Amino acid sequence: MHVISQYRDFFLTYLGNQSINKEPRNLYEPIEYIVGLGGKRMRPILTLMASEVFNTDYKKALPAAMAVEVFHNFSLVHDDIMDDAPLRRGNETVHEKWDLNTGILSGDAMLILAYQYFEQYEPIIFRNLAKLFSKTALEVCEGQQWDVDFEGRKDVTIPEYLKMIEYKTAVLVAAAMKMGAIVAEASEENANLIYEFGLNLGLAFQLQDDFLDAFGNPETFGKQVGGDIIENKKTYLYLKALEFSTKEDAQQLMHLFSVQLADNSEKISAVKEIFNRSGASKATQEAIQEYTFKAFDTLVKMNIEEEKKAILRAFGEALMGRKV
Ligand code: IPE
Ligand code: IPE
Ligand code: MG
Ligand code: MG
Ligand code: MG
Repeated sequence: MHVISQYRDFFLTYLGNQSINKEPRNLYEPIEYIVGLGGKRMRPILTLMASEVFNTDYKKALPAAMAVEVFHNFSLVHDDIMDDAPLRRGNETVHEKWDLNTGILSGDAMLILAYQYFEQYEPIIFRNLAKLFSKTALEVCEGQQWDVDFEGRKDVTIPEYLKMIEYKTAVLVAAAMKMGAIVAEASEENANLIYEFGLNLGLAFQLQDDFLDAFGNPETFGKQVGGDIIENKKTYLYLKALEFSTKEDAQQLMHLFSVQLADNSEKISAVKEIFNRSGASKATQEAIQEYTFKAFDTLVKMNIEEEKKAILRAFGEALMGRKV
């Protein structure tokens, strides 16, 4: 196996050799733009790592890794439309830089491009990848719909929130890893265990995404800080703040999440103060740890060398320390 930075380099080299320089430019240029903007490349790294965990050269997993990253970027383009987000990876979002129609169609094309990468695999692997991917992609849509539905609801519960983030985010992290296992033709049991590992890591990842959306450093975060607060997103921070707050704070929080203001900076700072003084920020950080450790528990059950488990554990630990 290799270290995380090597997997990133392998993926970036492969990505750099892909050509999407086609006509019409207004369809393909936004695709090159968003895919080229960077990002952590977490999902493709996990696909490559998983293939080597199951004793298959990462090179065989490169097209699958590419598929998952292109799909992820598609979901970001449409997510930024749905969330009315101005910034992505420190740059203008596609629908801001071009327009709404461009974001919709370039996103659609990316979804198709993602599937095309599976054509490079032999029939059995192709079928298993496509089957997992279709199930996952539909679940991401379901999670995204819940996320939007929850914006307008006042009675969202923690179990509902957890289901929503499982679908919109965690299943893709899990599938990224299982795709590595499929390419490696790992046993069903190991493929399912690595999926479970990825699922818990993905839940921790989205909890942290929510935390950073409120408390990230605007200089380095790359997205609009406070975007979830502006959009009245029912995050773990928000739900725990309602649960832990005094009656006055809870009422103020609910009021702040029912109004649309011209200047959001006061709303953002008032909400963040309630998140902190209620203990919701602390509870969110504890939940991030809890799901990361739950992922590590799955490793114990896995039938692989200890050295490989250590690399997967290191990945989870590095994620907990992330600032973007
Ligand atoms: C952002 O994903 C969307 C979520 C599911 C939280 P990442 O945080 O992995 O975004 P990039 O690819 O690194 O920019
Ligand atoms: C994103 O959730 C989930 C998907 C893109 C499917 P968010 O809306 O929290 O992601 P960011 O914060 O915009 O990256
Ligand atoms: Mg978003
Ligand atoms: Mg969203
Ligand atoms: Mg977010």
